Amino acid sequence: MDWGMKNRLSKVISPKTGKTVMLAVDHGYFQGPTTGLKTPKESLAPLLPFADSLFVTRGILRNCIDASTNIPIFLRVSGGPSVLGELSNEDITTSMKEALRLNAVGVGLSIFVGAKNEDRTISNLGRLVNEAEEYGIPVLAITAVGKEMERDARYLGLACRIAAEMGAHMVKTYYCKEDFKKVVDGCPVPIVIAGGKKIPERDALQMARNAIDDGAVGVDMGRNIFQSESPVGMIQAVRAIVHENKSVDEAFKIFNELKTKN
Ligand code: R5P
Repeated sequence: MDWGMKNRLSKVISPKTGKTVMLAVDHGYFQGPTTGLKTPKESLAPLLPFADSLFVTRGILRNCIDASTNIPIFLRVSGGPSVLGELSNEDITTSMKEALRLNAVGVGLSIFVGAKNEDRTISNLGRLVNEAEEYGIPVLAITAVGKEMERDARYLGLACRIAAEMGAHMVKTYYCKEDFKKVVDGCPVPIVIAGGKKIPERDALQMARNAIDDGAVGVDMGRNIFQSESPVGMIQAVRAIVHENKSVDEAFKIFNELKTKN
């Protein structure tokens, strides 16, 4: 790996703990004003000090994030369909030049394995990696799961491995209760988990704990943080698991204390 690539990755995955807490706030790129992110500027400001990087679109970055921020930016660069359309109908929407202009540490796009346009989205990933390698920019591939797919280890393992084979430097996928370790073991690049739909805070912390225990390097979590009763409490509780190896009980205690305090 070239110096630039290594340097950018070290800004996302902590060299001290080998782990990362990415804050995913790109949901509006197909969902519009998502609950918890209706006014992104206000929702995000208190969370930024606790995230290792922000996964965001260029529109929200330019309009809602202060340019003096120190937080590393991972830019969502794919899109196309809205929640009303065929979700797998994605293309690359943001250029590498734009990513560099925005001082991004990485770029991310979705692949839709098994969906109508799987071949196109996997080719998108290949093309993005070609361009990103030219500039030393890491690519995060996101294994989007269509409604008709089972979120099991077999499917997730297939999607993650394809992403790595195409050259992704990191993969974001969903956690599955059974055999998640097999998904991690079959993927030769670091895996972070998406949180998925909002679930009770303790359950989300348990999911993060399990994923780390199974070998994930961290989370790229959105709704379970910004839709929490206490987003600031939740992101710090997640950090405690990811970076400090705390138990679920310890992390939930941190969440409850911060919830009361705030
Ligand atoms: C999908 O909208 C994005 O890739 C999200 O960044 C990803 O799903 C993580 O967010 P959440 O934890 O809300 O699933």
